[in-house]
Amino acid sequence: MEKFRIYGERSEKPSQLELANRQLAQEAAAEGMVLLKNDGVLPLKEKEIALYGAGARLTVKGGSGSGDVRERYSVSIEEGLKNAGFTILSASWLERFTKEYEEDVRAFHERVEDAIKGYRVWQVMAMFQKIGEFKLAYPVGGRIEKEDIVSADTAVYVVARQAGEGDDRKIEGGDFLLSQAEIENIDICVKNYKHVVLVVNCGGILDISPVADKVSAVIYYGQAGEEGGNALGKLLCGEYNFSGKLADTWGRNYSDYPTAAFEQSEKLQEDYHEGIYVGYRWFEAKGVAPLYPFGFGLSYTTFESKFIKAECTGGRVSLTARVKNTGASAGKQVVQAYISRPNNKYFGEKKLLAAFNKTRKLFPGDEAELTLKFDLADCAVYDEARASFVLEEGDYPVYIGEDSASVIPCVLLRVKGERIVEKCKNLCVKKRGFKEISFDIKAEEAGALPIAEVGEIPAKEHSYNYTLPAVSSKVRKYLDGLSDEELAMFCMGGGYFTKRFNRVEGACGNTTSRLVKKGIPNIIMADGPAGVNILQKAAFTKSGYIRYVDELPKDWQWGWLKKVIPKLKFLFAKSKHTHVYQYCTAWPNATTIAQTWNVELASRVGLGIGKEMLKMGVTLWLAPALNIHRDPLCGRNFEYYSEDPLISGQMAAAVTRGVQSVGGVGVTIKHFACNNRENNRMEVSSNLSERALREIYLRGFRMACRENPMALMSSYNKINGVYAPNNRELLTDILRCEWGYNGLVMSDWDAVDKCSYIQAIKCGNNMIMPGRKDIYEKLVQAIAAGELTREEIKFSAAYALNAVFSAATSKGF
Ligand code: BGC
Repeated sequence: MEKFRIYGERSEKPSQLELANRQLAQEAAAEGMVLLKNDGVLPLKEKEIALYGAGARLTVKGGSGSGDVRERYSVSIEEGLKNAGFTILSASWLERFTKEYEEDVRAFHERVEDAIKGYRVWQVMAMFQKIGEFKLAYPVGGRIEKEDIVSADTAVYVVARQAGEGDDRKIEGGDFLLSQAEIENIDICVKNYKHVVLVVNCGGILDISPVADKVSAVIYYGQAGEEGGNALGKLLCGEYNFSGKLADTWGRNYSDYPTAAFEQSEKLQEDYHEGIYVGYRWFEAKGVAPLYPFGFGLSYTTFESKFIKAECTGGRVSLTARVKNTGASAGKQVVQAYISRPNNKYFGEKKLLAAFNKTRKLFPGDEAELTLKFDLADCAVYDEARASFVLEEGDYPVYIGEDSASVIPCVLLRVKGERIVEKCKNLCVKKRGFKEISFDIKAEEAGALPIAEVGEIPAKEHSYNYTLPAVSSKVRKYLDGLSDEELAMFCMGGGYFTKRFNRVEGACGNTTSRLVKKGIPNIIMADGPAGVNILQKAAFTKSGYIRYVDELPKDWQWGWLKKVIPKLKFLFAKSKHTHVYQYCTAWPNATTIAQTWNVELASRVGLGIGKEMLKMGVTLWLAPALNIHRDPLCGRNFEYYSEDPLISGQMAAAVTRGVQSVGGVGVTIKHFACNNRENNRMEVSSNLSERALREIYLRGFRMACRENPMALMSSYNKINGVYAPNNRELLTDILRCEWGYNGLVMSDWDAVDKCSYIQAIKCGNNMIMPGRKDIYEKLVQAIAAGELTREEIKFSAAYALNAVFSAATSKGF
């Protein structure tokens, strides 16, 4: 039998797949960027321009931490503009910027090296933990001096920000706010150039209010992946048109957001005072005018959207709209449908997003019909007193529009008599005494509108006696034949330092390889969501030992590793070793994907990712991530889609469909649930009402679960005081009994160290990640002591074995 298996490419040349994915990444970036303001300067008429700002050359392609990707090459904004035929006249400023930045990097390295100089070989993990405490501040760039001003009409100024796992953003200059230096530089541009185009290269919202009125155009570039620079170049010159729309509300100030309105009294308790009023639901209820509303985005052309008809079969609603390109250039348009609930018996929001669709590219004068479909039951209120989703009796006005602030009412859905659409049981209930806010908002009088009567909607009911779903005869054989101790190996990951059968260097997780001889290979997990996060290249000896190609991976070049390893020549590849190349695509970040409002495109991106996984030997992709943008300061918002559950759920579902259509590879939707901030993410309790939990924070997950994601990851935090991996109500009662989810549930990395390994298995967290010897020993002891039964172990192992045997990499086993 083979000792190990490797995947990837054998040649370093870009494969057809890599090239095709690069092109698709550009398409997604171009559709996901949002034009927020344009006084007519765009598309640019002149080819000679000035370019400033940190993100011009040091463009941020994606966030940091596990959500990073090690792609072959990313095109910066400067390069992208040059590729699109622009001449950049402001080279002197850019050169100075590079020099200053290199100096910052050097000083940063010195600081870190100084702090880790005492760490020895056996302290490698602790050393990396220490390194992780250091952050290299993203540069702002020097002042634009007189001699940096060039003779051009237009200056493009790129503000950039980096954020990532473990830390939230801060309301400070250089972070959520513009720094004084940036404001001054933008002012200098405004004084010296006819037009200033502000480009926001940031994974989330940035407070640009001090300059938004002064500049001629604003583009939200996001973190647009490896082809972002080229996409922007083509958008600026008019080869492409903008069609992206915001997936979040951009307030004028941080104080406009609900998370600013309710001070937290305790660090480890995050009380969701705002309840269901997240994002535009809050702004509209409070009557706060945003800088840019949810769903907003301009184009180089104009469109006219008309409502045509609404049909209602049972609770299934289908709206038809006709869109005409009334302008002078080709483009795509998004039609958004919102619905108001009557809010007579229950408090509610002004409206919520019910459906959306995007046209194909329409040439001037072209028209297209779009259908927008949704289930009215998905818009039901969760009535805690009755533990049921309820559609109140009354009229539900439906609106269509180009964004949340410019909608027109088009039909009334009439619900005769109250409908209980789903009977649940109260789960994950709020324990802390704070009161959630509520607003008394009634559905607007929508005037004389056509009426569509809502028909019968059968009420869903659930049984909370969860039993294991059917497993294949192969899985059954192992479940019956393996010892308790062997089954326990599948209740956790295969660990970092174990010998693996299936090998993918740089992947962050795997299942056990200890039972390969019994016919059970391991499977590999690699991070996302912006791509498949694995090493670019590695080599293997005949016996399966890893050899590094050319040098140690860049992010390992620290301390003794950097000094000692290069001297150990045998650790480096020779030509006789098998070289494996694993270049994966850096896609636009999740929010940028959401901003395309194009589910078909999101699904094609998923397909591109799935094909890479298959080629690289990765079975589970640790993405998509669909936590809600509750607070614009969350350090991981770039990895998540939106403040709105519907678009989050639809995007995650589309990406899941795409990835899994490849066969033998699957997604891991994460982080379930309410992981909406990064500071203290391992201890914090997200405290909220069951209504907010179900209507806002779980809704997207439920939608994605309808696509049968192969796996799901529980989060670090507690939900109403109970850690997610130990939360039976969440992981079994809601996820499995109510939603019928049958895939594998794994924990986040080291998350279970904070709670109980045994409870994790009992509660439905089937796999403890990444897995360690001491955890295995604890599980085995628990079995011996009767604290974990064979049935419980079998239950968990069944999900892991199901995943293993549905993997493409398990072929032949
Ligand atoms: C992150 C997860 C990630 C995992 C593995 C954790 O720190 O929260 O999103 O998938 O690490 O890298």
